[in-house]
Amino acid sequence: MRLDVVSIFPEYLAALDLSLVGKAAKSGLLDVRVHDLREWTYDRHRTVDDTPYGGGAGMVMKPEPWGEALDAVAPADGPSQPRLIVPTPAGRPFTQELAYELAAEPWLAFACGRYEGIDARVAAHAAERMRVDEVSIGDYVLNGGEVAVLVIVEAVARLLPGVIGNPESLSEESHSGDGLLEYPVYTKPPTWRGHAVPDVLLSGNHGLVAQWRHHESVRRTAERRPDLLAAWGAAVADKDDAVS
Ligand code: ADE
Repeated sequence: MRLDVVSIFPEYLAALDLSLVGKAAKSGLLDVRVHDLREWTYDRHRTVDDTPYGGGAGMVMKPEPWGEALDAVAPADGPSQPRLIVPTPAGRPFTQELAYELAAEPWLAFACGRYEGIDARVAAHAAERMRVDEVSIGDYVLNGGEVAVLVIVEAVARLLPGVIGNPESLSEESHSGDGLLEYPVYTKPPTWRGHAVPDVLLSGNHGLVAQWRHHESVRRTAERRPDLLAAWGAAVADKDDAVS
């Protein structure tokens, strides 16, 4: 998978050289290219922003550098186009489902906005030749899209075949499979600072362990994410209906 990231802070993306994502890049599974938006500015101050039409606080990223950056990354007459992700708190929510969808793409490009965002014509123009998704990683406001890109790339890269050593670890985790949060996990020693591992996990009884884990998943989900529990309950009811 090819990844292009355009930002005025390319150093922010240095973290993509680390850990699983870095390893995937070194092994050739990922082709990561980071670009400095200011390469496509021509004035002495390398200006990327200007005041908003209609007034108001803050600055808006100018369309010209973005247009040239996207033309350079993905030439309009090229053999293919990337799917363009624009991180913004005003975007569609980033979910595990969207991570799986993006993991199936051969080429993703990311446009990191700063300030009050990017002139809306940039996404509109790009959408004439590529799929564009404005995506939010959560209901809070960051200073720019760079950290959101790190989040999205990590969530997507670990789904690529060959990136995670044991792909089974993907199926039981939170937000995968059954829609419940993952159960708590323990390792040795059996007692630590007065806290014991639940007996059932030491019992060797796989059926009981599975039952306990499922129960803990439901309990946790009810406590922390009642919204997910409601969706899970509805899905289970649908399945029961289909069977009967
Ligand atoms: N940029 C600023 N805040 C953001 C958020 N919550 N998600 C994605 N991009 C952002």
